[in-house]
Amino acid sequence: MRHVTLTELFTHPIADKFLSRSGKAHAIAVAFHAFHFAKKNNVCVDLATKAALLHDIGHYTWYRNGKWDFELYKKYDIHAIKGAERAHKLLIRCGEHPASAKEIALAVLLHTDSYLPDGELQLSSLQKVVALADKADEEPKGNHHYRKINQERALQSIKRLDEMVEEELENQIKKSV
Ligand SMILES: [Fe+2]
Ligand SMILES: [Fe+2]
Repeated sequence: MRHVTLTELFTHPIADKFLSRSGKAHAIAVAFHAFHFAKKNNVCVDLATKAALLHDIGHYTWYRNGKWDFELYKKYDIHAIKGAERAHKLLIRCGEHPASAKEIALAVLLHTDSYLPDGELQLSSLQKVVALADKADEEPKGNHHYRKINQERALQSIKRLDEMVEEELENQIKKSV
């Protein structure tokens, strides 16, 4: 039994505001990729899909003279840090278990190393799945952030993914008994 669903997170006003900024279509696509990667790699599909849905929730809009400025973004961006904190706050508000909220927030924090100094990070399987899912939906020049999806279709997709997660969690329980 999950404490909170993807639909509850997705429809929360905080998620709505910030996912509109970074792209709902991208968030949903990454969540679907994360489901499949998680299933294949025996990673919890509940945690993976939630982290994937929220991975870019920390984005700030780097505009100069009305246009997105990649220079500014590259120099000053900390969206993964901000996202981890935002995702954690949202999850706790929505009733997520604190242990899961922590794991999800850490996967959001480590979904990209673009803001970190060079070096090797030892990622957990969950963190790897979320980073891979994000890469799988990446387009040149950050165009994946601008892909549009209408709210009705977005909600249908999230509800479908919730069902897939529930089904998979039930299967995992059956297998473990
Ligand atoms: Fe990102
Ligand atoms: Fe992303």
